[in-house]
Amino acid sequence: DTPLVVVAIDGPAASGKSSTAHWVAERLGYRHVDSGALYRALTLLATQEAGAVEGWTEAVLLALAARVRLAPIPGGFEPLIDERPAGDGIRGAEVTRCVSKVAQMPGVRDWVNARVRTAAEGNAVVVDGRDIGTVVFPAAPLKIFLVADPWERARRRLVQRLNRRPTDDEIAEETERLVQRDAKDATQTVQAKDAILLDTTYLTQAEQVDRIVALARALERGWAPDGADEA
Ligand code: CDP
Ligand code: CDP
Repeated sequence: DTPLVVVAIDGPAASGKSSTAHWVAERLGYRHVDSGALYRALTLLATQEAGAVEGWTEAVLLALAARVRLAPIPGGFEPLIDERPAGDGIRGAEVTRCVSKVAQMPGVRDWVNARVRTAAEGNAVVVDGRDIGTVVFPAAPLKIFLVADPWERARRRLVQRLNRRPTDDEIAEETERLVQRDAKDATQTVQAKDAILLDTTYLTQAEQVDRIVALARALERGWAPDGADEA
């Protein structure tokens, strides 16, 4: 069983992927699949049960992965650990610090990709991550690569987390963290040849959602982006 339609949204940390994917999916009546949430849920479980991050091996992670899955919820999917919602803990600082190491393990990547493909089976989906347009769904008819200036990404992430206006020092520190994580994720964060680059630095959330929805609707009417494979 293959997905009906895939809109792939990739890009670096805090470029707006998952919030944009959520709203695009809602507007189109598609389901949202957040691949990063699976890497994060597995990492959360590892922080709880696998000791210090230095000792994590692929075998240990894959054994824990048997206890993590994506479950359908209205409009999309949520990660479960031991059949319970993984919750906001997956967005915490400790998980964010350790997740790139987990995501380097080939067996873990295969596990996430299989879970994401299974979630998409038979559905129209908006899937966000790093390698959705290149590895997970290379035949997706619409691929978006979101980028934004690192300072602006850091500022947005802090507004989201603190719910207030961050200071310049806070933004500087968060920018450093984001840039370091981007470097660790660089191998898998690849813009597909047929992806559309969208720089959101000077766009509002609503504007970037509108643009992607407009592209998806054009596609539904039969248009194909330059260089995209024939459906
Ligand atoms: O939203 P943010 O960019 O902070 O993180 P995320 O999308 O939830 O992804 C968390 C981590 O999972 C990233 O830093 C990558 O290490 C990894 N990831 C990946 O390698 N491939 C994906 N398709 C999605 C996430
Ligand atoms: O999933 P990813 O880490 O790429 O980013 P996100 O969590 O969807 O977005 C980070 C924050 O930037 C969210 O609070 C968005 O609402 C906000 N934002 C945005 O994505 N685009 C804008 N043009 C303005 C704000």
